[in-house]
Amino acid sequence: MAKPKTQFVCQNCGTVHNRWAGKCEGCGEWNTIVEEDPMGGIGSGPGKVPKKGRAVTLTTLSGETEEAPRVQTGISELDRATGGGFVRGSVVLVGGDPGIGKSTLLMQAAAALSRRKQRIIYVSGEEAVAQVRLRAQRLGAADTDVLLAAETNVEDILATISEGKRPDLVIIDSIQTLWSDTADSAPGTVTQVRTGVQAMIRFAKQTGAAMVLVGHVTKEGQIAGPRVVEHMVDAVLYFEGDRGHHYRVLRTVKNRFGPTDEIGVFEMSDRGLREVTNPSELFLGERNAKSPGAAVFAGMEGTRPVLVEVQALVAPTSLGTPRRAVVGWDSSRLAMILAVLEAHCGVRLGQHDVYLNVAGGYRISEPAADMAIASALVSSLADTPLPPDCVFFGEISLSGAVRPVSQTAQRLKEAEKLGFAGAMLPATSAELPKGGNARWTKIEDLPDLVSR
Ligand code: TYD
Ligand code: MG
Repeated sequence: MAKPKTQFVCQNCGTVHNRWAGKCEGCGEWNTIVEEDPMGGIGSGPGKVPKKGRAVTLTTLSGETEEAPRVQTGISELDRATGGGFVRGSVVLVGGDPGIGKSTLLMQAAAALSRRKQRIIYVSGEEAVAQVRLRAQRLGAADTDVLLAAETNVEDILATISEGKRPDLVIIDSIQTLWSDTADSAPGTVTQVRTGVQAMIRFAKQTGAAMVLVGHVTKEGQIAGPRVVEHMVDAVLYFEGDRGHHYRVLRTVKNRFGPTDEIGVFEMSDRGLREVTNPSELFLGERNAKSPGAAVFAGMEGTRPVLVEVQALVAPTSLGTPRRAVVGWDSSRLAMILAVLEAHCGVRLGQHDVYLNVAGGYRISEPAADMAIASALVSSLADTPLPPDCVFFGEISLSGAVRPVSQTAQRLKEAEKLGFAGAMLPATSAELPKGGNARWTKIEDLPDLVSR
């Protein structure tokens, strides 16, 4: 049987289908399937002679590379997120919503590296060179030797960045604008993006240059999301934040050369992004300790403690089905805590709307926040503020028991440093440090917490 000429690829998740369908079975999205050329960009076709490769044993390689060689920007929040700087010969994907500040961050990184005598090429497919220069001027980076190029064709980009001395770092902004002559599909489709990214990865591996790819995340799936290239690159960082707030968090979700779960925190200003070395102070800056429904969660981001306020509002509902609205936290986790409160503590919220918000546009992913959330909910329902100088952490199980969490000592140390004189934490916590004047209150289970 002859090979099918085309295939149907979901632009959201990359699943390949045999025929067109309205809904992708891979991710459940609608209208995301597009017809593409299956061999697009992969160097196949008639006349290609296979080349014999070389296999080496691991032992002969030992000693060749001790540590991955890195290019450090000196912007410590960025270096922290990458695990100590960009690794030569590796490819990092920086994803995020359009307009969140990716180009700004990378222009600042490029300028910082250029000042450290590194050769940096910034390839912009979205803005003209003059526009990029204007941005650089606003960021105070116009006096650096960053090389700018405005290209979108993959072959042209490769020719541009191969010219002259080998670059230390190449920034491609963004992968959605890449298109290659070798792929038949329209620009912006999965095949085009994948082909472009493959070519860039090949360049990085061959030349030893570090490569940063920018990718927009779109929910609609109109443009191929960076999710389809996540597995191809060495590290994936997401730049997140809330449009209404001026904090931005650079989060590591994958890193072949360093730890994940690390974050870098930045504050936006008219002159670009500023590093925030103590994020807790920033997140607690707007706190009103006397209002009911607010609890401070002592969280961890990788190796760093982060204190952040969670706010709950519980109000009688006027609708048949009460509303549950969550910002910055998992809504199914909220449903679970509500169920545990109802089943084990007799706290009935079936006739109440519940709103939950994490202050500062921040996102919590740790289950350790359960106890802070439960406390905020109960506090709002009872219309009684929680003790203002107390932090909360601990995971709640379905049985209502409070489970211990990791890194108790670091959480408590940070809380004490920021002037919190108390903490409510799991009774089974190990390694409790001696709190100078601070009181650590051990909580057995959720009814124990509610009765306090
Ligand atoms: P931009 O870096 O272009 O976002 P992205 O590349 O992710 O689409 O930033 C979007 C806008 O925000 C741009 O008009 C500049 C502005 N901005 C600031 O004024 N200060 C800042 O610190 C940042 C990050 C952005
Ligand atoms: Mg941009």
